[in-house]
Amino acid sequence: MDHALRLAARGLGNVWPNPAVGCVIVNAGRVVGRGWTQPGGRPHAERMALDQAGPAARGATAYVTLEPCAHHGRTPPCAEALVQAGVARVVSSLTDPDPRVAGRGHAILRTAGVEVVEGGRFDAAAALQRGFLTRVTQGRPMVTLKLATSFDGRIATAAGESRWITGPAARRHVHLLRLTHDAVMVGAGTARADRPALNVRGFGAVRQPVRVVIAGAPIPALPPEDDAHGPLWVLPAPLPEALAELGRRGITRVFCEGGGQLAAALLTAGLVDELAGYTAGVVLGGDGRAAVGPLGLGALADAPRFRLVETRALGGDVFHRWVRDLM
Ligand SMILES: NC(=O)c1ccc[n+]([C@@H]2O[C@H](COP(=O)([O-])OP(=O)(O)OC[C@H]3O[C@@H](n4cnc5c(N)ncnc54)[C@H](OP(=O)(O)O)[C@@H]3O)[C@@H](O)[C@H]2O)c1
Repeated sequence: MDHALRLAARGLGNVWPNPAVGCVIVNAGRVVGRGWTQPGGRPHAERMALDQAGPAARGATAYVTLEPCAHHGRTPPCAEALVQAGVARVVSSLTDPDPRVAGRGHAILRTAGVEVVEGGRFDAAAALQRGFLTRVTQGRPMVTLKLATSFDGRIATAAGESRWITGPAARRHVHLLRLTHDAVMVGAGTARADRPALNVRGFGAVRQPVRVVIAGAPIPALPPEDDAHGPLWVLPAPLPEALAELGRRGITRVFCEGGGQLAAALLTAGLVDELAGYTAGVVLGGDGRAAVGPLGLGALADAPRFRLVETRALGGDVFHRWVRDLM
């Protein structure tokens, strides 16, 4: 299942509105098929792995990071494809909460005599597929808030100078995170002040993320959609409604890059699922610009709190990732 999870991660940012799924088919101790959700969401991981396995799928075990689908779309459901290929056993991490599946995939398999084991690497699979789960169960994408700051949490000097606080390795890593999200989002203040490109650079020809600006008025002078810039969607507040609209449009993973007002509003509304922090060894002081606007907290207990899941040195900076536990 760990192998299947690593394959699934290849689809992150590239397969919306579908989940990024991985599948490994093992027969007599040998891997005979490997698949992951393909760009745009199809073919599904199981289809790719079955095609690779061919006749070797008969009697095999399939490890899948999400319950195989049960609904007829443009292609027959994966649960039926696994049955037809003669797979003997399916180990799946999660029940798909999509009402069109919701246990039916497992039921199709069991009815056909396939052994089904549920729950393999549940926590890791839920973390990886969090954006999809959040969209289906809460009607909105998951939100990662990125903050690249000085040691004391500032994003610019008092005069507004901010280039560059973090180094090239951290900046390249930001592009990697953009790549693994479906959309990159900023507030109108940032869009107007910086005219940011909000695209992925340095990773070849990739599917560019959708650019989202939260604004009450049109945003002039951002580049139009082309090979190097994803679609541009300007959405008005309130934020829960803007995120619900992104969910309706199929977005599962949003990467928010500020500014401070938008970050504070998202945190206050409980809409941030992950924090991606880059901290530099530079100190800008209390007169520098804060990364997050005022939260108006009454007590420390009211502060949004996250759990540390990763730390890493990136050049001269530190990358750290924090999550809010999935309800
Ligand atoms: N160095 C860095 O890492 C970094 C990163 C990002 C930003 N920045 C800097 O931060 C500055 C912009 O930040 P900012 O805090 O002034 O603006 P912001 O957060 O980027 O945008 C605020 C604007 O977003 C819109 N908005 C809509 N609903 C909102 C809501 N519920 N809460 C908050 N905003 C909402 C409003 O636009 P309307 O008025 O159109 O309704 C509001 O004026 C720029 O100077 C930029 O350079 C620096």
